[in-house]
Amino acid sequence: MGGSCNIFFALAVFILLHHLTSLAFVPNISSDEAALLALKSHISSHPNNILSRNWSSSGPVCSWIGITCSSRHQRVTALDISSMQLHGTIPPHLGNLSFLVSLNISYNAFHGDFPLELAHLQRLKFISITSNNFTGAIPSFLSLLPNLHFLYLSSNQFSGEIPSSLSNLTKLQVLRIQNNFLQGEIPQEIGDLRYLTTLDLQVNKFTGSIPTSIFNITTLQNIALTESNLTGKLPITICDHLPNLEGLHLSVNYLSGVIPPNLDKCRKLQILSLTYNEFIGTVPRELSNLTDLTELYIAALQLKDSMIFPYGR
Ligand SMILES: *[C@@H]1O[C@H](CO)[C@@H](O)[C@H](O)[C@H]1NC(C)=O
Ligand SMILES: *[C@@H]1O[C@H](CO)[C@@H](O)[C@H](O)[C@H]1NC(C)=O
Ligand SMILES: *[C@@H]1O[C@H](CO)[C@@H](O)[C@H](O)[C@H]1NC(C)=O
Ligand SMILES: *[C@@H]1O[C@H](CO)[C@@H](O)[C@H](O)[C@H]1NC(C)=O
Ligand SMILES: *[C@@H]1O[C@H](CO)[C@@H](O)[C@H](O)[C@H]1NC(C)=O
Ligand SMILES: *[C@@H]1O[C@H](CO)[C@@H](O)[C@H](O)[C@H]1NC(C)=O
Ligand SMILES: *[C@@H]1O[C@H](CO)[C@@H](O)[C@H](O)[C@H]1NC(C)=O
Ligand SMILES: *[C@@H]1O[C@H](CO)[C@@H](O)[C@H](O)[C@H]1NC(C)=O
Ligand SMILES: *[C@@H]1O[C@H](CO)[C@@H](O)[C@H](O)[C@H]1NC(C)=O
Repeated sequence: MGGSCNIFFALAVFILLHHLTSLAFVPNISSDEAALLALKSHISSHPNNILSRNWSSSGPVCSWIGITCSSRHQRVTALDISSMQLHGTIPPHLGNLSFLVSLNISYNAFHGDFPLELAHLQRLKFISITSNNFTGAIPSFLSLLPNLHFLYLSSNQFSGEIPSSLSNLTKLQVLRIQNNFLQGEIPQEIGDLRYLTTLDLQVNKFTGSIPTSIFNITTLQNIALTESNLTGKLPITICDHLPNLEGLHLSVNYLSGVIPPNLDKCRKLQILSLTYNEFIGTVPRELSNLTDLTELYIAALQLKDSMIFPYGR
């Protein structure tokens, strides 16, 4: 009897202690510093050597190059080490920067995975990893970052499909994943992103047609789907719900059917590029209603000899 009581007591103490030790880690500027030093140690080469000298305990973290802190909490809120010719990987420790709002590591040569621990960064509003060497699938945990407004993943080597869970990012305004190796269908759920102003998925290898839900996002100003291996027809009601659209880039795909006369309902359209597709019929005269149109790239069947080549292939 007594023995089993002791076991329960020991178990209770164990659970309590375990609970207390997990509570004991309250991130502060020291853990921010540790996270950044871990990042520094994962950078294998940095030709101009700026970080190796500057990111050092001899100066306060908030004065380090590329670091911005909040004045109220003295915690790291922005990390911008873009365009520093950095090679390396991203350590899980970055997930400890719990006040981080903006992460900009674009235009470097980081590679490998994007660690799951970054899902802890619930304040993140801006992520740019444009022009690095990340591989693998687009991390689906990004959909767990409810405050993301801007997500730039262009010019990496991401493969696989666009996770439909990205539709969870209800505050997203800009989504750029151009120039990767994405496949599969563009998920219909993208249409749930009702504050999106820019959708740039061009230069990928999708299958299927453009989800019609996209044309229901009334905030959209730019749709870029050039060179994406897309098929199917454009909906005849394409512009019914796109009063703000300024750029529609659809060149170099396998789009078929007619060019919808309804395009003149996109009254703010400035750039329309449709070259290198399989459209039939004539260029609708309604396009002449588009008074803001400054660039028009069209190749319908009748115009084959006078095609304009905006992408110089
Ligand atoms: C940060 O927290 C640790 C304990 O987790 C503590 O030892 C350290 O003194 C704190 N640093 C600052 C600057 O508050
Ligand atoms: C790092 O660079 C910043 C800005 O140039 C400077 O203010 C700071 O003193 C430097 N810190 C160290 C430890 O060199
Ligand atoms: C991120 O870095 C790129 C390249 O330096 C720059 O163009 C962009 O403005 C930066 N964005 C933010 C939010 O700092
Ligand atoms: C930060 O994160 C890493 C990896 O996720 C972890 O091992 C470490 O203990 C964390 N805490 C501190 C204070 O660095
Ligand atoms: C990216 O990785 C490829 C190999 O996967 C390599 O050839 C290329 O040089 C890398 N680019 C950069 C900028 O590191
Ligand atoms: C969507 O977001 C909710 C809450 O923000 C989260 O609980 C859920 O796991 C997310 N779903 C996916 C598929 O990421
Ligand atoms: C383009 O899509 C078609 C299916 O619509 C597929 O058969 C083909 O392999 C794709 N091309 C590339 C280069 O991925
Ligand atoms: C677009 O919105 C209209 C109503 O505004 C709705 O009837 C239609 O089903 C929507 N289309 C898609 C593909 O979501
Ligand atoms: C648009 O153009 C067509 C044909 O050129 C014309 O019949 C129509 O009235 C115009 N609509 C508007 C709203 O200007």
